[in-house]
Amino acid sequence: MSVRHFLQLKDLSREEYAYVFERTRWIKDRFKGYEPYRPLHDRTLAMVFEKHSTRTRVSFEAGMHQLGGSVITLMTRDTQLGRGEPIEDVARVITRMVDLVMIRTFEQAIIERFAAHSRVPVINGLTNEYHPCQIMGDIYTFIEQRGDIRGRTVAWIGDSNNVCNTWLQAAELFDFNVHVSTPPGYEVEPERAGVYGTDHYEEFGDPMEAAKDADLITTDVWTSMGFEAEDAERKRDFEDWQVDVDMMRAAKKDALFMHCLPAHRGEEVTAEVIDGPQSVVWDEAENRLHTQKALMEYLLLGRL
Ligand code: CP
Ligand code: NVA
Repeated sequence: MSVRHFLQLKDLSREEYAYVFERTRWIKDRFKGYEPYRPLHDRTLAMVFEKHSTRTRVSFEAGMHQLGGSVITLMTRDTQLGRGEPIEDVARVITRMVDLVMIRTFEQAIIERFAAHSRVPVINGLTNEYHPCQIMGDIYTFIEQRGDIRGRTVAWIGDSNNVCNTWLQAAELFDFNVHVSTPPGYEVEPERAGVYGTDHYEEFGDPMEAAKDADLITTDVWTSMGFEAEDAERKRDFEDWQVDVDMMRAAKKDALFMHCLPAHRGEEVTAEVIDGPQSVVWDEAENRLHTQKALMEYLLLGRL
């Protein structure tokens, strides 16, 4: 099998996701039954973090360990990357030593340059533009809770950031609709989002309108990592883009609430919503583990 990378959600086809999700179910069931499954016992994953992380780090590290493999975690500041070694050289070197690489970095161009010089599969653990591992877990969670996502409506309330862009790619792949509501000046940039058209999303000035009849309401922090200098301005601009109980009421009765986490209660979401009965954020976070294990298995071993 030739080297496959996972740099954007659309790097896998809908049919490949069907396979990865089927494997996720199987891997999750075995894990819940305390049955060991160690197909990657001779493999090593290297992770490079240029930004903070809790979920991504723990889910990949625990996941690789559970699959029988080893993990090396590199933080930029402790490595030669932090002293200016070109990313291409780092890629050439570490991919002669490990079997799989996960990177969390700033511009998407950085991970693309790494992948272009990599001998092994590269996984995007978040860039300024995309967060494919997150949305893979979110789609799996939606299907687990509510069945097929095709034809459903997802309301995105807030910033048109990496997580939003990836939801838009998901809508094209899985054939559902996204109602996006961002404050003025923070609208979706389709080219940056990597979407082919506007058929699968609609923009709303009023977040309550976007929430109407949605099957799922989701949001994210007002200020993503790397944009901290804009924090004060964003706090003002995003004030009305808070998911609260009234907004949940505008959606379908059985609508779910998701958030990639970490969350800021009282900013993009109220405590009542994120800690309330419609919120599935903890299952969503847990499914990062199971879906990423299936992804690593697929990238390294192909179809079994
Ligand atoms: N959702 C997510 O990727 O969380 P971390 O930043 O903690 O990895
Ligand atoms: N949009 C957020 C997601 C964190 C998981 C960020 O990039 O900081």
